[in-house]
Amino acid sequence: MTNPFIALDPAATIADLIERRFGLPTQAGKDLPVAAAVTVAGMLTRRSLRRFTPQPVSAEMLEIALAAALSAPAKSDLQQASIIIVREPALRAAINDLVPSMPWIANAPEFLVFCGDNRRLRRIAELRGKPFPNDTLDMFMNSAVDAGIVMQAFTTAAESLGLAVCPISLIRNQVERASELLRLPQGVFPVAGMCVGHPNDAGRLSMRLPPAVTVHVDHYDASDFDAELAAYDARRAVREPTAANKQRNVDEFGSVEPYTWSEDKARQYHVPERHSFGPYVRGQGFALK
Ligand SMILES: Cc1cc2nc3c(=O)[nH]c(=O)nc-3n(C[C@H](O)[C@H](O)[C@H](O)COP(=O)(O)O)c2cc1C
Repeated sequence: MTNPFIALDPAATIADLIERRFGLPTQAGKDLPVAAAVTVAGMLTRRSLRRFTPQPVSAEMLEIALAAALSAPAKSDLQQASIIIVREPALRAAINDLVPSMPWIANAPEFLVFCGDNRRLRRIAELRGKPFPNDTLDMFMNSAVDAGIVMQAFTTAAESLGLAVCPISLIRNQVERASELLRLPQGVFPVAGMCVGHPNDAGRLSMRLPPAVTVHVDHYDASDFDAELAAYDARRAVREPTAANKQRNVDEFGSVEPYTWSEDKARQYHVPERHSFGPYVRGQGFALK
């Protein structure tokens, strides 16, 4: 069961799906029909969705997806992720108001917040009367990574149950307020929110950077990056053109054709963003030594 709007040709192979995802030919999976690898097929065709039907997500579906998500591996079995299901209407409205530019948050039947949680480990040290000389950046990263892995596991589980999701890191734009609303104690911080609902459309398949750029053998090698990026930009601009009115910062940089992925990312990050997150994390009790 996946998004019913995403039509999968039963004769398609895994190679076909890889080719669609990257816009490049491959031999991998030429003899593997999608029916023989449904989880991989679901992952290759997945997309974040921002339009949901009004149908509620049943408590049972949510419980199943959360149980599967929490089956993800965890650093040292420390299980440093916490998930907050935002239900109370006034709280939900206040969270929605943090990101008014994204109406899909308000329209999503469920909204979850995935948090890194180092509080439990610190409390366990207290309960067991042991010192905790590990208030390190690595410890912060462990909990952030655990939360990210659980979030992705939730994504795969929810999508395989026919639900649609969209992660929302924009709640970190006003992280102090989000943290206050969610009453996050010391040692806990939000990684991302997550809209969850039943899909109302097929969304669109987003082309990924080629494995030539993201997968390395033995040693990191960026020697072909500039050329690979130019080719990726060109492939993607043909398949996913950006309408003139969707280009960022046109007043400053003008409207260009083709408007490429790298142009978009350079424009997106030409201004400072989320500089309050570091101070916020330190305020949550992380020394980041
Ligand atoms: C950690 C994280 C945070 C994200 N934050 C947002 C967000 O705030 N708003 C949004 O609309 N999409 C958000 N997304 C979704 C990305 O925009 C999306 O994954 C990306 O464009 C690739 O598209 P796809 O997931 O459909 O393949 C986020 C994704 C991740 C993994």
